[in-house]
Amino acid sequence: MGGKIILITGATSGIGRHAALYLAGQGHRVFATGRRTDALRELEAEAGDLPIEALELDVNDDESIAAAAAKVAARTEGYGLDVLINNAGYGKFGPVALVDEAEMRGQFETNVFGLVKVTQAFLPAMRKRGSGRVINVSSMVGRVALVLQGVYCATKHAVEALSDCMRREVAGFGVRVILVEPGMIRSNFESTSGSDMSVYDDDPIYGPAVRRYAEEVNRMYRFAPGPRPISRTIARAVSARRPRARYVSPSYNAIVLFFMRILPTRLADAIFRKVAGL
Ligand SMILES: NC(=O)c1ccc[n+]([C@@H]2O[C@H](COP(=O)([O-])OP(=O)(O)OC[C@H]3O[C@@H](n4cnc5c(N)ncnc54)[C@H](OP(=O)(O)O)[C@@H]3O)[C@@H](O)[C@H]2O)c1
Repeated sequence: MGGKIILITGATSGIGRHAALYLAGQGHRVFATGRRTDALRELEAEAGDLPIEALELDVNDDESIAAAAAKVAARTEGYGLDVLINNAGYGKFGPVALVDEAEMRGQFETNVFGLVKVTQAFLPAMRKRGSGRVINVSSMVGRVALVLQGVYCATKHAVEALSDCMRREVAGFGVRVILVEPGMIRSNFESTSGSDMSVYDDDPIYGPAVRRYAEEVNRMYRFAPGPRPISRTIARAVSARRPRARYVSPSYNAIVLFFMRILPTRLADAIFRKVAGL
């Protein structure tokens, strides 16, 4: 297998950063992108001789997307990417009844609209060549909707739907669309989601449930693995001769999705309500 030309969004921390180093370590040429230049410089320094090129890319900024696409085209002599990894994303947890409109739109901007716009920028070169892969980092919550994470779950459900659709739309052009669905992974994610529900702490209706839930989420994150299993899954999606449509990662989480699928909805509702104390 020859080294591929790969671009990954959200490579300034967590899964994206780890995956950039991991894939470059396997001999792929990696454009590691993000919106924080200091973090990108640090990544380049840590990469040493590994084939990593840092590029600024804010997935919410059209000009930034166009500039990154132009740089990739120039640096690859018009070839473009073999693999685009849409990883940038974040979650803000909280009850749907209280979620702030800007907060809700922000998550959709980054996790859904940003992902589509970045894909639109890099897809034409793949289609023209008749080869390429788009790997979308979704989540297990793209398959199950957890309580007190409604908006974040909705963004990942949207990513799943868009990926299923796109996979069928571009397969005829030799382009594969693959979903990677992480379970709980230790990264910066928990500090932007689980533990940051304090705005709802004093709500007379949801406050107690939110406080308990945030505590539980943070406790679970302490036992969660780091990003390595996800990097390995992404590497599989990059290299597999016939990649699957979706990879649950780490793979032991597939059992949870299986039970959620066969569990009667009434029972699932009762369990979720009990866990959240609602
Ligand atoms: N950790 C988990 O438990 C978990 C589980 C399932 C799915 N996921 C998904 O995995 C992906 C990576 O998350 P992570 O766990 O690695 O969290 P993380 O450590 O917080 O990393 C998120 C990355 O996304 C970047 N990002 C956010 N908004 C962006 C924007 N507008 N433009 C460009 N980059 C942006 C962040 O950049 P900054 O450094 O500038 O903030 C950061 O590099 C996300 O899509 C997340 O939804 C995570």
